[in-house]
Amino acid sequence: MTRVAILGTGKMGGAMARRLAGAGFELTLWNRTPAKAAALHLGRVVDSPSEALQAADIVISSLTNDAALRDVYLGDQGVLIAEPKAILVDMSTAGPDVTVELARTAQARGAHFLEAPVVGSVPAVESGQLLILVAGDEADVERAHPVLGHLGETWYLGKPGSAQRMKLIANSMLGITTAAAAELLAAATAIGLDRKQAFRMVTRFAPGLNAREHGLVHDEHTPAMFAVRDLLKDLDLGLHLYGRADAATPLTSRARDLYATLMPASADLDISAVVATSAKT
Ligand SMILES: NC(=O)c1ccc[n+]([C@@H]2O[C@H](COP(=O)([O-])OP(=O)(O)OC[C@H]3O[C@@H](n4cnc5c(N)ncnc54)[C@H](OP(=O)(O)O)[C@@H]3O)[C@@H](O)[C@H]2O)c1
Repeated sequence: MTRVAILGTGKMGGAMARRLAGAGFELTLWNRTPAKAAALHLGRVVDSPSEALQAADIVISSLTNDAALRDVYLGDQGVLIAEPKAILVDMSTAGPDVTVELARTAQARGAHFLEAPVVGSVPAVESGQLLILVAGDEADVERAHPVLGHLGETWYLGKPGSAQRMKLIANSMLGITTAAAAELLAAATAIGLDRKQAFRMVTRFAPGLNAREHGLVHDEHTPAMFAVRDLLKDLDLGLHLYGRADAATPLTSRARDLYATLMPASADLDISAVVATSAKT
């Protein structure tokens, strides 16, 4: 059986560990805060990314941002200090600049690196229904398939950077549609409609919002599936990229500013907390 190491056992990495353990994979886990990996009671918890690598055919990372990726891949005890034989699959949303850099470094060391950011949150991991956007060498995608296939469907996008770029389009859409729903649910209530019925209406146009009924209809923003701070990070990454390409993105900018008003107090709440920005004063 393929041996899998997971680097980063946060909300997504932890859910992936549970899903893959359930499918019978032998797991090695590493997390910057080791207690979180140990609390999963799955597989062996090791002290460094490089140690995790030694016991793995496939390494999956799911980390906060580009700084975390650089620490984990390029740091003293990082994945790329040696010449890893395992297929390295990064499933974080960190923007294309860092993953292109990692892909180049990996290639120079004879390592195999795939960029594989995902669309879908913890429930999609748990049911094996993620959309996994993949970029890198197609032969490596084939080699990773026995593991990735348990997490969801893969969509091959080509050269390094392309999957991260598409992921930023996805999260810009998520940010805009969630903010739009928050605005229109408040407007619906103001004009005398029932909030739950209005939710049924808006989800007809944006079915992906159904996963956020608790937050958008009932104002329950914990536990967070996807935290405000992380969406804000992705909107900033997207806006940086769109700006570099001279693409006009006024709706993404406006959505970004709405989520920014929730910081820092609501940083760890689910992105459905954006309903607060439409609350009557
Ligand atoms: N949640 C979602 O719905 C969702 C959906 C799609 C994609 N994503 C993306 O998936 C990634 C993980 O998201 P998440 O929701 O699982 O976040 P999370 O629960 O906050 O987990 C973040 C992970 O990154 C680690 N980390 C942060 N900074 C680090 C550093 N400098 N060095 C080493 N490790 C570091 C954390 O370690 P500690 O435990 O030590 O803090 C933790 O394991 C993010 O890129 C996010 O944008 C999330």
